[in-house]
Amino acid sequence: MNMRTKDFTTPAACTNLEWWRSAVIYQIYPRSFSDSDGDGIGDLPGITAKLPYLGRLGVDAIWLSPFYLSPQADAGYDVADYRVVDPLFGTLDDFDRMLEQAHALGMRVIVDLVPNHTSDEHAWFQAALQSPPGSAERARYLFRDGKGEHGNLPPNNWQSVFGGNAWSRAPGDSQWYLHLFDRRQPDLNWDHPDVRSEFEDVLKFWLDRGVDGFRVDVAHGLVKAPGLPDWAGQAAMVEGTEGGDDNPGPMWDQEDVHEIYRSWRRLLDSYPGERMMVAEAWIAPQARLTRYIRPDEMQQAFNFDYLLTHWDAAEIKAVIDSSLAASAAVGAPTTWVMSNHDSVRHTSRYGLSKPGARPKGIAADGEQPDEALGLRRARAAAFLTLALPGSAYIYQGEELGLPEHTMLEAHYRQDPAFFRTNGEEIGRDGCRVPLPWLADAPSFGFGPGEKSWLPQPEGFARYAVDRQEGVYGSTLELYRQLLQLRHDYKLGNGQLRWQSGDSSDVLSFDNGTLCAVINLGMRPVTLPPGRLLLSSEQRDASGRLPGNAAAWLALR
Ligand code: NOJ
Repeated sequence: MNMRTKDFTTPAACTNLEWWRSAVIYQIYPRSFSDSDGDGIGDLPGITAKLPYLGRLGVDAIWLSPFYLSPQADAGYDVADYRVVDPLFGTLDDFDRMLEQAHALGMRVIVDLVPNHTSDEHAWFQAALQSPPGSAERARYLFRDGKGEHGNLPPNNWQSVFGGNAWSRAPGDSQWYLHLFDRRQPDLNWDHPDVRSEFEDVLKFWLDRGVDGFRVDVAHGLVKAPGLPDWAGQAAMVEGTEGGDDNPGPMWDQEDVHEIYRSWRRLLDSYPGERMMVAEAWIAPQARLTRYIRPDEMQQAFNFDYLLTHWDAAEIKAVIDSSLAASAAVGAPTTWVMSNHDSVRHTSRYGLSKPGARPKGIAADGEQPDEALGLRRARAAAFLTLALPGSAYIYQGEELGLPEHTMLEAHYRQDPAFFRTNGEEIGRDGCRVPLPWLADAPSFGFGPGEKSWLPQPEGFARYAVDRQEGVYGSTLELYRQLLQLRHDYKLGNGQLRWQSGDSSDVLSFDNGTLCAVINLGMRPVTLPPGRLLLSSEQRDASGRLPGNAAAWLALR
């Protein structure tokens, strides 16, 4: 018998309005999406050319990782000018054309905002380096005198998220400056009024151009505890801080950061068209995270707890329940995300001996994922993620079932985390490899020529768009069908009701008149009553759903 266990309701007022409550948002990592000019780096015209593909996929919005002027020390998350498009990616006109085309196809556009730090090539930081200690120019960053008799020791013991010390000195400079990431990414001083007004202005610049929202990078890091007290902990990207919930560290999740988002929210609300913000904040517990999505702050926060779950029914169910409850408590939608440009692709994570573990990159001498098993699980996971109420994120290539590049040779690596840890942390390059569009073309159709800024593994041919398009049962066609059904059944705005599954390895729930069944175990299971809409694998001769597979059924 089916047992109803829990109900989570989406506020009735928010079904059609507030598009972000239910949107499927596709992350484009511009340098690896599509290259129009053959320099081996993806660009804005390349994105524009592929918008019809995204329209056919059925996503509601796209989010673009940074394309601003940058020396690319951290792949564009080191911005030298927030109002200029880097020539690598094109021009502002190219951006406007892309935005117009996306809107014409019914897709919203979210851009990345990087407010915690600038590039060391930003005009402000250059001016600071040329100005003496105590100058107004230095006050926009976090310059401090060093410790020790000659000031040769860093001002405190903070560690960079990318490894090593969080403080550096420019050659010949007496002072140190803080950088929570690479030394080429100096942290801004958010107590300074110039910083606040500059970013309001940057927001207006992009809002005036017509963007629909912002993904706010390191949203929990802008404000630091007064006095920058020592803290021996270490934070890891996506996972957050080691050392427990009560101790996020003096550089993370400070109370005063919320006032910044309240002021930005007021600004966004003064524009027509439901502009939104999504927080990238790796903090726990979820009750702390959802403070960023209170009604007068941002609209969404990435749900990294979901990304971090293992391939385990009880663990996933617990995270779904706690996520829905935490976001419902503040009236915000939940988000669901499995992969992004900072994590090993979930197709590969699910193929590890501890399925869903999150290694910091995979190298040739590390455990190699079982590719077929990982793909099978990833296809089933899509049935889970896309059946859940709330907003779902898709990382480019996920719809192809693309795996991580796990054999990338060290000399190709570009992630600063790899270098700052002397290779101990393999880093994020393996999930950033350019997409395969055509199986038999040079660079797999990523660009017009051979070049791609990271080499693509041979095996990418199997995943190329042209190998999957129109092919029944391909991962791409599966995603298209899932997105269509999600739309038709209004799953994003729906509510989840757990059903008892056939075994403890099965997750089974209704969302409106659709029932989703995900079998995370190895043994086949009997499906509940209902009309089969779609399954990730063929059912067996007795009509059972095999292991590591999922199905959607219509209840009426
Ligand atoms: C989070 C971004 O997603 C990541 O790619 C970047 O390296 C850091 N923030 C620093 O900006």
